Amino acid sequence: MKVGYLQFKPEFGKPVENISSIRNLISDKQFDLLVLPELANSGYLFSNKNEMYELSEEIDNGNFCNELKKICSEKNSFIISGICERDDKIFYNSSVLISPDGNIKVYRKLHLFDDEKKWFTRGNLDLEVYEISGKGYEKVKIGMMICFDWIFPETARTLALKGAQIICHPSNLVMHYCQNAMFTRALENHVFTITANRIGKDVRPDSEISFTGESVIIDPKGQYLYRGSKVDEEVIIIDIDPSEALNKKINFNNDLFGDRRKTFYKN
Ligand code: ACM
Repeated sequence: MKVGYLQFKPEFGKPVENISSIRNLISDKQFDLLVLPELANSGYLFSNKNEMYELSEEIDNGNFCNELKKICSEKNSFIISGICERDDKIFYNSSVLISPDGNIKVYRKLHLFDDEKKWFTRGNLDLEVYEISGKGYEKVKIGMMICFDWIFPETARTLALKGAQIICHPSNLVMHYCQNAMFTRALENHVFTITANRIGKDVRPDSEISFTGESVIIDPKGQYLYRGSKVDEEVIIIDIDPSEALNKKINFNNDLFGDRRKTFYKN
């Protein structure tokens, strides 16, 4: 199965230009599943709710999702992208899974980072796992989490316990910990992880923020299959065998899920 990520620099406040950049950057790429960064339509550094209203979209009738649907249909592929979502007057930092037939599944970031709490409402949807099939792969289970969700190990654990083989992780990382920490998320759950980070800066009148790039793809044994550039745009696609994530044994005697001592854990 061909999976990967697009690492790029979404321009703040330019959703039309951003979808056009995405289209150009992946135009000659073939993949089954591609992960894009967090808030890939809008950019990250908001300064008021009016601009959020302008830059967000409703999942069912927004231009960004409609364009992604066209790309998925043309390429017969699945795309996961971060998106600034509006649901009536509420804003979510969300991720969409778009299928070649135009079906859309949504995840809303559960753990908001820092000033995101000013702008977004915390996610209100369960962590779900979705089965996807295509030419050469069948019934592969994938889950979504967004950026800072990584620091709460329960997020990836829940997805893994629900059967996720590949955890797709749109991100706008501002620190360097996550790229190293995802090794543990992959290893402790025996899953593949794809962290699609962004590069560049958002520069606004009152503040600016830089993003750390270095997107990573890690296998169930914790091996880095790819660690991207800190500064360059790149589309990385690699071949994986998702069935490797079905085996939760560490050795003959240890099973990552079977050996859990749930009665001793605090909820
Ligand atoms: C983050 O969650 N975007 C740091």
